[in-house]
Amino acid sequence: MRKSEMFRQRYGRWVLIIGGSDGLGADFARDITRRGLNCVLIARRLPVLEALAADLRAETGMEIRTASIDVAQSDAVDRLAALVDDIDLGLVVFNAGADSSGSTFLGSPLSMWQDIVRRNVNVLTDGLYHFADRFVRQRRGGLLIVGSAAAFGGGARASIYTATKGFGLNLGESLWAELKPHGVDVLTLCFLVGDTPVLRSALARNAIPVEAVGAASTIDLARAALDALPDGPMLNFDEDLAAPNPLTSAAARREHVLEVSAGLEHFYGAPDPARA
Ligand SMILES: NC(=O)c1ccc[n+]([C@@H]2O[C@H](COP(=O)([O-])OP(=O)(O)OC[C@H]3O[C@@H](n4cnc5c(N)ncnc54)[C@H](OP(=O)(O)O)[C@@H]3O)[C@@H](O)[C@H]2O)c1
Repeated sequence: MRKSEMFRQRYGRWVLIIGGSDGLGADFARDITRRGLNCVLIARRLPVLEALAADLRAETGMEIRTASIDVAQSDAVDRLAALVDDIDLGLVVFNAGADSSGSTFLGSPLSMWQDIVRRNVNVLTDGLYHFADRFVRQRRGGLLIVGSAAAFGGGARASIYTATKGFGLNLGESLWAELKPHGVDVLTLCFLVGDTPVLRSALARNAIPVEAVGAASTIDLARAALDALPDGPMLNFDEDLAAPNPLTSAAARREHVLEVSAGLEHFYGAPDPARA
């Protein structure tokens, strides 16, 4: 069976991409439509979404829905759920999640950090809960969380960003172990630097050329993550760039998740089969 046919069988006809208007999110949409699936694209700037949707329809003939939803708002998941209620949805990509402010914790108003926490923690949790439940019921699906190498530890000028990315990685790893028996794949993509418009404008503020930071191509990142979806819980795109390290190694982290999961099953007993 062809790779794109297997992908369609596993993930259904439609994919929801949260943060799907430019950069990495747009390359997820390009790759997914070329694999023969339709997309629902979410971002705040509707004209950017609509321009991408027109290109994708013209290039691939697939169906594209767009909606402007700010996923830093607490009602975001209700709005997302209503938008995809009537379609055969099989994959959700949680892409929106950057913070390129470079601000110290006290250097920005608390409200800015609260927006990032709502988007990267609260709405991520609500979205994973809603779509995991839907996918467990249909006994197939995928949840792809775009994380970051920032998930591996904290650092000055990235306090809330690294904290929220650490939250996403741990949650994704746990859900991978819980949802695998129900036919649902969960993968968190981690990488150091990606060549996105957000990165480029952050570098431009300090007159740093994009070539100087070794940014990965978003085409390569999207393809690698979509290919690795069945092989969670984590893909570290840059794993080969550094010396072997159990903190950043996909295989070592998978072993750790399996050990913790087995230990906790022994401790708490098997989960109630009526609930996933
Ligand atoms: N760029 C890097 O070097 C890098 C490195 C490691 C990890 N990552 C991760 O890669 C992902 C993509 O990063 P990125 O650099 O492309 O920047 P990003 O701002 O996280 O993602 C851009 C996409 O998300 C949308 N978006 C952002 N905030 C949103 C919100 N509140 N509501 C709805 N849509 C929103 C943007 O469209 P609108 O602006 O129109 O809303 C755009 O479509 C993030 O999760 C980031 O943490 C990036």
